[in-house]
This record gives sequence, C-alpha cells and structure tokens, in this order.
Amino acid sequence: MNPPNSPDRTTLRDPLADSPFLRACRREPTPVTPIWLMRQAGRYMPEYREVRARVPFLELCKRPELATEVTVTAAERLGVDAAILFADILLILEPLGFQLEFSRGEGPVIHNPVRAAADVDRVRPLENTEPLDYVFQAVRAIRAALRSDLPLIGFAGAPFTLACYAIEGGSSRHYEKAKTFMYADPSAWDALMGRLVDATAAYLNAQAAAGAQALQLFDSWVGNLSPADYRRFVLPHMARLFSRLDPSVPTIHFGTDTGSLLELQREAGGSVIGLDWRVELDQAWRRLGDGVAVQGNLDPVVLFSSPDEIAAQARRILREAAGRPGHIFNLGHGILPGTPVDNVLALVDVVHSST
Ligand code: CP3
Repeated sequence: MNPPNSPDRTTLRDPLADSPFLRACRREPTPVTPIWLMRQAGRYMPEYREVRARVPFLELCKRPELATEVTVTAAERLGVDAAILFADILLILEPLGFQLEFSRGEGPVIHNPVRAAADVDRVRPLENTEPLDYVFQAVRAIRAALRSDLPLIGFAGAPFTLACYAIEGGSSRHYEKAKTFMYADPSAWDALMGRLVDATAAYLNAQAAAGAQALQLFDSWVGNLSPADYRRFVLPHMARLFSRLDPSVPTIHFGTDTGSLLELQREAGGSVIGLDWRVELDQAWRRLGDGVAVQGNLDPVVLFSSPDEIAAQARRILREAAGRPGHIFNLGHGILPGTPVDNVLALVDVVHSST
C-alpha cells in the first residue's frame, strides 16, 4: 500500500517495471520490440573469451565478481533490453549430490549419474539454498551494477532437461537412457522429477528475492518427447513448479523443437512461451492464444549470414508479431560460438529501428 501523501502509483513511474522487456512480459504495449539473446555472454564474444582464458568455466560461474563482469559487459555492449545472469543450468546438480565437471571440448560430465531406481534415493533434497549462495551474490552484484532500467533475468534448467543430464551423465543425441528410465520405472521417474521441482522452485525464488526481475526455465531438450509422453511424464511436474514460483515475477517457459508440444507447454505454465525457428511465430501464437506473451524466434545460424539477410529475417518475424503487445525478440536457441559480433549488433539495431 502507498504511504499517505505519496504520489499516485500511476504517476510514479518505476523505470524497471516500465522497461520494454517487463512490459512485454505483461503483454503491455511497448515503444520498441524488446530484444535479448540467449547465451548473449558467451564464447562468440572477445570480452568473454578474455575473462575465460584466465579461469575455468565452473570457477567463472562461482566467482560473483567475474559472473557480474561478463553479464553486464555483454548486455551493455549489445544494447539489448535485458541482461541474463551468467551461470549454468547444471550448477544446481552439485548440491543435490552430483559430481559435475566441464571438461575441455567435451561439455558437461556428471561422474555419478542416476542409472537405477535406487540411485534416486541418493539425490539429496535441497535443504536450503545456501550452497548456491554464490549465484545469489552474483544476482545482487549484477543488479547493483546494471543500469537501473535494465531488467535482469534469472534462470534454471527445467526438470526434464536436468533429469536428462542426471541420467545420461552428459550431453546426448537421443536420450535413450533417460527415456528408458522413464518408461521402465515411472514412480522412480516421478520421485526424481519431484526432487528437481522442489530444488528448482527454491533456487528460482531465491534468485528473484536477490533481485532478478524475471525467471526463465530452459527445457532445452523436451522437444524429444511425444505429446503423450510430455503430458504423462513432464506436464504435471512443470505445472507444480510454476505454481510454486513467486507470482509477482514473470516467467519464460522455453524449449526447442516443441512445435508439437506448444499447447501442452502453455497448459503447464509461464507468462511467456519461448518459440524456436521451426515454427512460424504468428501460427504458434494463434495456437497459444492471446493470454500469453511469446519470445523468439530467429534461427541462430542466420547470424552467420549477411546484414541484409539478418534484417530481412528479423523484419519477417516482426511482421508475424504484427505489433501485438507481448512479443520479446530473441533467437530460437542460444548464440553459437563463432557468431560475428557485428552481426549481433546489426540484429539489435534492426529490431529497435523497425518497430
Ligand atoms: O544465456 C546466457 O548468456 C547465460 C549463461 C548460460 C550458460 N549456459 C553459460 C554457458 C545459460 C543460460 C546456460 C544454460 C544452459 N547450459 C543450457 C540451456 C540453454 C541451451 O543452450 O539450451 C544448457 C543445455 C546448458 C548445459 C551446458 N553448459 C552445455 C551443454 C555446455 C557445453 C556446450 C557449450 O555450449 O559450450 C555448457 C557450457 C556453457 N554454459 C558455456 C557457457 C558460456 C560455455 C563454456 C565455456 O566457456 O567453454
């Protein structure tokens, strides 16, 4: 409630809440289409490689001052409408009892994956979020360093995508171990997903409490499931997770290759649904209905082409959005290593100047 004699809420403007990104999350009109890019602080950027040359990846995630530097540098250099916390979806697995390593050239490795139902009992519930305190310290430091009107997005891996890593022990093409586990023992699967939901809800709410203005769930690999399997093995867990999150903070529900799952993802929850380039934005939005915002959906590989091609494709996406409130421009998946930075800058410029 406003204290007596304070200016009316409608006349007192909060530059953060009024930012194009947060307005779009709430499906309010914006002066420009907001844009940010998944993996905007990453190996394609020389400033990131310079910091990364000095410290291994996990250490970079665990040193709040360095995580702050790469987060803020990327957002400011690109001129985007939101910053995303520098971290990784797999960090939460450590306090749950998984031994995580990022080995050079091979990506993430989990040395003690879940392979049998009995292994699920070894997965520790997250009693408190203290072991991930370095993440919340980074959120506070980033919030303090960012321009006061630039929102900060916190994030976590969605339980299905985390379960894939926990069971496969690393990246995978077909997820045969994870899916076989799911089919063989649905109650052990539900127990594992339940623990991941509990831990992820606590982790995301703590990021919001530390100063993140929005929260994104990365369900990067869920597009590998049939609609029937999504409904049975994932939807109830995602719905429970969304219901546990701070309702005052907008949420972005992201997945890739989810063209056949969009209605189910919408049913599970999220203020914004992430779309990849395999769907047409206008058709996808029609299927989702106007009660939700959308984020996407340029193919990250387009950023390797010419500025003219990038501009043409960005304008096509903006035409599909047709100025409807609630479109956040993004790629359909993260920026790839080797992407020319100038092309990323050209994209941000064309999105801001075309709307
Ligand atoms: O978007 C951002 O700028 C924030 C930072 C961020 C990272 N990872 C940093 C990172 C975010 C949001 C993630 C999420 C993440 N991590 C996902 C979901 C997003 C997606 O792409 O689908 C996944 C699946 C992971 C797991 C992960 N982390 C893998 C498979 C790898 C190795 C492959 C790769 O791209 O290098 C990582 C490492 C990683 N996470 C890097 C970065 C910048 C590269 C590490 C390095 O510096 O060598």
